[in-house]
Amino acid sequence: MKGLILAGGRATRLRPLTYVTNKHLLPVYQKPMIYYSLEAMRRAGVQDVLITTNPEHAGDFINLLRSGADFGLRLSYEIQDDSVGGIAQAIGLAESFTGSDKLLVLLGDNIFTHDLSGAVKVFERRPKGAMIFGKEVEHPEHYGVIELRDDGRVKSIVEKPKRPKGNLAQTGVYLYDNRVFDFARKLKPSDRGELEVTDLNNVYVKEGTMKVEVMDGYWIDAGTSADELLAAGNRVAELKEYFAGSQPGGKKRIA
Ligand code: G1P
Repeated sequence: MKGLILAGGRATRLRPLTYVTNKHLLPVYQKPMIYYSLEAMRRAGVQDVLITTNPEHAGDFINLLRSGADFGLRLSYEIQDDSVGGIAQAIGLAESFTGSDKLLVLLGDNIFTHDLSGAVKVFERRPKGAMIFGKEVEHPEHYGVIELRDDGRVKSIVEKPKRPKGNLAQTGVYLYDNRVFDFARKLKPSDRGELEVTDLNNVYVKEGTMKVEVMDGYWIDAGTSADELLAAGNRVAELKEYFAGSQPGGKKRIA
């Protein structure tokens, strides 16, 4: 299993914080946001991790995270040009890095306590398919919304519906088999001009190979608004012990 953390985008919803700083480098309590994804990868048991980001900020990530050794990871970096954009385009950049493996994708602004290691182990043994992780939320209209069949299988995923059918949000955690790159290549940009992860995931839904796991504990998309960013920081401060992980700057870091 290989890992991919998405850390690109312009994060216009968080301006002026993001005019010169990449969203994933903003502080969430005492660490840059991306630390939480790196720690989640390590807890999931995935060590080879690719970070995709935009050209203006790639240097910042390399300066901060370097080889990844402070996190117990091996990091690689790939640049996402702005030409099309979107999550599915960034996933496409991981093709040669992933090789013949499967892929765990984390959106770098999602912070959560759910343990992914069990799902990762089970998924490694599956011949094909994908997996999404859902979380019940108060405002599903802000997210991709997962509709389930009576037997618990995924019926559809709708991106930010005005009238959501249920309150199970699609989080920014995805497991894919190797065909994801072919599927991503065939996608067309959405109305907002991006290659959408929801369209990608619906390819698997149609095929009947999409599974869903509902997350335990805490989950937040800290990049949605300044309020969510603040809420994430406050909750992480309360859950200090769980999120202790790597100390700011990394244990081995020389000043
Ligand atoms: C993206 C996805 C959405 C998902 C969310 C989770 O939304 O498009 O389906 O629910 O991440 O964080 P975005 O944050 O890009 O608007």
